[in-house]
Amino acid sequence: MEEVQPIIWDGTTLYLLDQRLLPGKETYLPCRSAHDVAESIKNMVVRGAPAIGIAAAFGMVLAARNLLSSMTDQQDSSALPPYFLEKLREAAILLKETRPTAVNLAWAVGRIMEKAEKLGAETPDKVQKELEAEAKKLYAEDIEINKRIGRWGAELIQDGSTVLTHCNAGALATAGYGTALGVIRSAFFQGKKIRVFADETRPFLQGSRLTVWELKKEKIPVTLIVDSAAGYYMSKKRIHCVVVGADRVAANGDTANKIGTYSLAVLAKENNIPFYVAVPFSTFDFSIDSGSDIIVEERDSGEVTHLNNALLTVPGISVGNPAFDITPASLISAFITEYGVLHAPNRKKIEEFFSQKKSITLEK
Ligand code: MRU
Repeated sequence: MEEVQPIIWDGTTLYLLDQRLLPGKETYLPCRSAHDVAESIKNMVVRGAPAIGIAAAFGMVLAARNLLSSMTDQQDSSALPPYFLEKLREAAILLKETRPTAVNLAWAVGRIMEKAEKLGAETPDKVQKELEAEAKKLYAEDIEINKRIGRWGAELIQDGSTVLTHCNAGALATAGYGTALGVIRSAFFQGKKIRVFADETRPFLQGSRLTVWELKKEKIPVTLIVDSAAGYYMSKKRIHCVVVGADRVAANGDTANKIGTYSLAVLAKENNIPFYVAVPFSTFDFSIDSGSDIIVEERDSGEVTHLNNALLTVPGISVGNPAFDITPASLISAFITEYGVLHAPNRKKIEEFFSQKKSITLEK
């Protein structure tokens, strides 16, 4: 199996597989500062909720490294100077502000910052090393979590079925293996004969450029369709379930994911097709009551009006380009998490599920 590695940390530099150039070119963009990482997240060099969180965590490590190397020999390096934490807090804000919808970004940066605040009395060198260790832990945990999601989710995928997915919730959107594509990978490698229908996912084309590329690499049968064909295939009984990822799940189960996800959930309900959301616990945001409180990122109109610099429409046309939409919990058949599968989710069931599951060891 050829592994896709969207994020590589070599101890001094963060290399991000430039997803804007896929599938044509496999090029890694080096990031040497928190600013480089912030720009890469904003510009979609790296994308996908867990992946931007992990990239940002390493962005914090780069900020600490650069602060350490800017300290002069005269400065006392036996204790953390007050400005060190202040500068790290600034880097955290810079990174968190890059994209508003995926909660994993703030979650991962928060985890690194919390570590730094706790180490406030240590030497700058020790703080830098500990932050690097924490970012590496986050990276390794993400792959492990995705494999667990995959194993739970594979049980829901029938042998011989066709699975529809939207956007890219694969290895490219995580540290590796993927959430929705992790479920598909697990089912396929268990020997189930499955086919994937991948929505092209206008306007950024994560489906046609990224999902198809990832699945082809592993010889998982995949058919590319335009977004608007999903209903047709569902009505013809050619799709047996839908599996997507998530960017933020509110306390009541309402789920933000790539624009077009909500339409698919409505279509799935109408056609009696299960609609699954594969999602790590870190994507649940219990501070958000319901989907209407989730901030939906509005992206540049050029993503809609242009393709490879060619104008596709009338010059100056007014454009709406929300990057995400909200699927109400009532349309979700189940959440597939690293702790197991939660069917027919609602606020109470989500609360109970995680309070029980998180107190026991992971089963898969
Ligand atoms: O705008 P993107 O490409 O970052 O959007 C990504 C998605 O919507 C994914 O489905 C989501 O982040 C889950 S990734 C495991």
